[in-house]
Amino acid sequence: MNISLIGMMGSGKSTIAKILREKLDDFSLVDTDSLIVEQEKVSINRIFADKGEDYFRIIESQILNDVLKKDNQIISTGGGIVVKDSNLNLLKDNSIVFFLSADDSILFDRVKNNNERPLLNDVDIKERIKNLLCLRLSQYEKAHYTIDTNYKTPETVANEIIRKLGLDANH
Ligand code: S3P
Repeated sequence: MNISLIGMMGSGKSTIAKILREKLDDFSLVDTDSLIVEQEKVSINRIFADKGEDYFRIIESQILNDVLKKDNQIISTGGGIVVKDSNLNLLKDNSIVFFLSADDSILFDRVKNNNERPLLNDVDIKERIKNLLCLRLSQYEKAHYTIDTNYKTPETVANEIIRKLGLDANH
């Protein structure tokens, strides 16, 4: 079984995936953004600046395809991975998909001081988050499970996921 985390930038996917990995012995940890950076050997900001978002999305889909050929992974994804139906379908067919939901004001608070996200550079971050969430929400909601992360610690969210899966944590 694979476990996938989807949701907006700032929803806590990477942090919660790491906690899940610590709690679940039999799973490995995979982060699609990290795999893209590893493969392309430059930052996500640089990929967007030099080659554009369309190029990034092509690589993102290829990486996701490769990742989902394997099993027993906790997969943290990039926030925009669900925009392509083919990615979302692949995720749903090959993993249990958790949407980490949060209100736009909370997402804003979590990402406002980070400048490693090209879609949030040089824009009104609050507006951008609102718009992206509005565009993507119906896709995110197709996940097998939705977990509300507002006012919860990553640890609490990870424990909720483990409970939903009926798994035993090692601590
Ligand atoms: C993106 C989210 C980022 C990264 C890229 C695009 C998006 O990942 O994939 O900057 O479209 O929402 P995080 O959700 O991990 O920040």
